Amino acid sequence: MSTQSLAPLTARRSGPLRGRARAPGDKSISHRAFLFGLLTRGGVEIHGLLEGEDVLRTGQACRQLGAEIVQHGPGRWSVRGPGLGALLAPRDALDFGNAGTGSRLMMGVVGSHPIQATFDGDASLRKRPMRRILDPLRQMGTQVVAEAEGGRCPIILRGPDAVSPILYRTPVASAQIKSAVLLAGLNARGLTTVIETEASRDHTEKMLAHFGADVSVTVEGDGRRIDLVGQPTLVARPVHVPADPSSAAFPIVAALITPGSDLVVEGVMMNPLRSGLLTTLREMGGRIDTLELRDEGGEQVADLRVRASDLIGVDVPAARAPSMIDEYPILAVAAAFAKGATRMRGLHELRVKESDRLAAVAAGLAAAGVAHEIVGDDLMVEGGPVPGGGFVETKLDHRIAMSFLVMGLASEAPMRIDDSATIATSFPNFRALMEGLGAAFE
Ligand code: S3P
Repeated sequence: MSTQSLAPLTARRSGPLRGRARAPGDKSISHRAFLFGLLTRGGVEIHGLLEGEDVLRTGQACRQLGAEIVQHGPGRWSVRGPGLGALLAPRDALDFGNAGTGSRLMMGVVGSHPIQATFDGDASLRKRPMRRILDPLRQMGTQVVAEAEGGRCPIILRGPDAVSPILYRTPVASAQIKSAVLLAGLNARGLTTVIETEASRDHTEKMLAHFGADVSVTVEGDGRRIDLVGQPTLVARPVHVPADPSSAAFPIVAALITPGSDLVVEGVMMNPLRSGLLTTLREMGGRIDTLELRDEGGEQVADLRVRASDLIGVDVPAARAPSMIDEYPILAVAAAFAKGATRMRGLHELRVKESDRLAAVAAGLAAAGVAHEIVGDDLMVEGGPVPGGGFVETKLDHRIAMSFLVMGLASEAPMRIDDSATIATSFPNFRALMEGLGAAFE
């Protein structure tokens, strides 16, 4: 990205955050809504879609593969796909921008069809490891026609005439790996099985069932076994996207650390495989009340009342990481304001997110004058009053950008980030929503 297109932003100490707000639609479910629309004939209606850049890139790729996609209003979209087995070969490269989820899940879809496609993205995506997806796909018959060094994008895939179903044990807890295999298994004749030793988010399994596929999930210890019968006729059904807990995390932590705050974040998805941050914040003494638990489109959602709290440091077990993998940057911010030390264990996967998040969080904490240490795969943060006054390089990482802006709302001196443009990948109305609650940005 050229320096001219950077959009720096500063957050300064704010008065109490008050009011009600709803975070945008869940990014994971929004990507999948487009993908299932592509694979289903008959037209899938989507309500509450996240209109962030990542998801719109997935939508564009679906168009290139033959889907008709129409926006009917804010968050209201419809997708009419060519259907499973009938995807068109795209003429141009599929450009996923910053989106790891979009690109990896689509590799499963394209790699199981007898077409060839090029996968590419921005400088961040080009650094991310893709062998974790290419390895199982090769076993299923996908040909990797070309790849950049180390199994990175740009990657050219060509699917086989007949996909082989496999039994695959995911080497790391990753919903993206699991989902790529399951989506490829959709077009294989017979039974595809994925076994994960630690449960990761289950949106793909739930949506496969929602669209009428024969899928079963068996709990095995801390993990899951998923069995999918291939080549179903998917049935067009509407998708209602709940609010993204990973985005709701930003106003929630902002309210906890900004004195006098008392606000309600509405409609937050409470899926237990996504709610590790809430568990942790409550252990830290965060005053977060569940106001109204209800069902929305097959997920439990709740309004959460959040009040400024005196947080204390905690030890976050490694086993919790899959249920809050995207929330460590903002948890590190909460930990910076807590009394005592917080230890976050088992963060190796953070090194391969939109940035090396472990390094980016540590650099941000250093810029803000917060004592911290990385020991192996663990991050330790020593909380207390946060001096702030730092400048943070966001490294094309939306969550690093939002986390350190939230920090600036309560640190003594303001926090400045080099680029807020990247926030549009997952939370396009972040600034307006936060300002509506009383946040001071400039
Ligand atoms: C996602 C899975 C997670 C997460 C990402 C979204 C998904 O990645 O970090 O933001 O929608 O499946 P991994 O599967 O690599 O852990």
